[in-house]
Amino acid sequence: MRAVDIIEKKRDKQVLSTEEIEWFIQDYTSGAIPDYQASALLMAIFLNGMSREETVTLTMAMAKSGEMLDLSDITDYAIDKHSSGGVGDKTTLVVLPIVAALGVPVAKMSGRGLGFSGGTLDKLEAIKGFNVNLSDEEFRKQARETQLVLAGQTGELAPADGKLYALRDVTATVDNLSLIAASIMSKKLASGAKGIVLDVKLGCGAFMKTVDAARELAQMMVDIGTDSGRDMVALLSDMNQPLGVAVGNALEVKEALETLNGGGPANFREHCLEVAAYMLQLAGRGKKWVDTDFARADAEKTLNDGSAFSKFRLMVETQGGDVSMVDDPTLLPQASLLQTVNAKQAGNVSQVAADEIARASLVLGAGREKKSDPIDAAVGVEVFVNVGDTVREGDVVARIHANDAGKMDEARIFIEKAIQYSTDGIEHLPLFYGVIDGRNPEKS
Ligand code: URA
Repeated sequence: MRAVDIIEKKRDKQVLSTEEIEWFIQDYTSGAIPDYQASALLMAIFLNGMSREETVTLTMAMAKSGEMLDLSDITDYAIDKHSSGGVGDKTTLVVLPIVAALGVPVAKMSGRGLGFSGGTLDKLEAIKGFNVNLSDEEFRKQARETQLVLAGQTGELAPADGKLYALRDVTATVDNLSLIAASIMSKKLASGAKGIVLDVKLGCGAFMKTVDAARELAQMMVDIGTDSGRDMVALLSDMNQPLGVAVGNALEVKEALETLNGGGPANFREHCLEVAAYMLQLAGRGKKWVDTDFARADAEKTLNDGSAFSKFRLMVETQGGDVSMVDDPTLLPQASLLQTVNAKQAGNVSQVAADEIARASLVLGAGREKKSDPIDAAVGVEVFVNVGDTVREGDVVARIHANDAGKMDEARIFIEKAIQYSTDGIEHLPLFYGVIDGRNPEKS
């Protein structure tokens, strides 16, 4: 086979065969195919698209380019969740302990992520001593003994995706549904899960800006998973405004702890319960948790009776973290400068633009633009209002946590732009816009 023939075929809008896709991905991962030929193929795919079969084959080829995790020594039915990423999205920190507290083991490998705030690993590292670098043996042992482990990748999952994503980033080929779906799902398929709940965000703070675009991506990912023998559920959730109050690493851990202790912002708690209920339903495969209402009630109990909190605490302890910070979140890293943002006028909140809040958080140092950028765990923004809330002039609508006065001033400009008011009646935004359920009915 020759790479140039495969590029030519896709350039001419033809369908690639399984052998051609697998060969290309294998040789690109090994370095036998150079970046310039992979770039040309990516652009041809970007312009001419891929069929469902081609997309599934591409995803499987990318998944198999590295280690395929086998979690069968931990559980016969591994479950996982994936969020397409959002502002203030600390859902994993709450959902996984809920599920584990109900006896369903969760062994999850997570990432750091670029952008406005850290990924799950960065958030956990706000807890002093928390070790995300576990060996394969440590990862499995902890999952078996405590039923909950959250760590970085032990081996190399889907290395083809790492190489291709870097190339897409510099060749203007990121924004293609087949390529996005294959990228996300290749990592999920390699991570050993049989049941996967996807939390696909939409709105100004998300990759997908509209319900239709998010639905199309979600459906494609559900199809890929289903065609690869996984049980799939995708939730379409709002990311026009931040999720919960806190945006920033230690602030988000604090909010997750409040939620695990039965409190926390109502919209964030509700979001976590919904995701947890679907994970439980998958894990019960139609038996133990017959429907999401039943699963939700059990999930809610774990927040109210402290069992989800205890699971989280046990995970922190087992992974070397300082549990005094879990017991007393005021011990988490704190920023030296605090400043409130006040409502400029009385009225109804018409916008809390998640993308602008994200910029504020990034400016403060809570996220990273390059992989090598350090993260400041203490800084971030708390946003106290949601779209549809009524405020009086001067009400505190946000609080900035900064370690640098100049950055605080810059962040303030973004926050003031993010939050807008109206004298008209404004509806609250929905948390969810729909569910795509791809479950194989024969299994339930
Ligand atoms: N997240 C991914 O992992 N890949 C994409 O292509 C887009 C978002």
